[in-house]
Amino acid sequence: MTREVAAQLDGTGVLVCVDVQTGMLSYLRARRDLAAVHLVCASGDALPFRNGVFDRAYMASALGEIRNKQRALAECARVLAEGGRCAVSEPVLDPDFVSSARLSELAQNVSLLMGPRSASWRHYTQTLTKRTAPPQS
Ligand SMILES: C[S@@+](CC[C@H](N)C(=O)[O-])C[C@H]1O[C@@H](n2cnc3c(N)ncnc32)[C@H](O)[C@@H]1O
Repeated sequence: MTREVAAQLDGTGVLVCVDVQTGMLSYLRARRDLAAVHLVCASGDALPFRNGVFDRAYMASALGEIRNKQRALAECARVLAEGGRCAVSEPVLDPDFVSSARLSELAQNVSLLMGPRSASWRHYTQTLTKRTAPPQS
């Protein structure tokens, strides 16, 4: 999946891949076509990034594996810029599968609005948008 996302960059963007397992990151590091990708070993529920620094985020078959899913979504919202978008993909056959209904509940508790969703028998991908803060009066 990382290769597909990296291919979407227009030459100015920066792709940062986060995984809690060093083995997964070592696999990416070994790939020549992903030399420009930044690899960060961290848990999705405690991201080592400042607020609002990303335009896009993608949780690919990962949310189900993170113990504190609410915290992970809150962290995702925190690091996104206002109006930034996140996509969450969940594989249906995974024992840790997070349903779309559950994701909707989790998103309601943070500043993420449910957007378009695509699905097949294998997985769904839900887009979420970070709510824009109301202007200060
Ligand atoms: C099914 S794999 C998907 C890997 C990759 N995202 C992809 O699409 O190919 C799930 C990944 O979630 C990672 N993971 C599990 N718990 C995590 C956590 N707390 N924070 C970040 N990643 C985690 C695992 O290490 C594993 O690499």
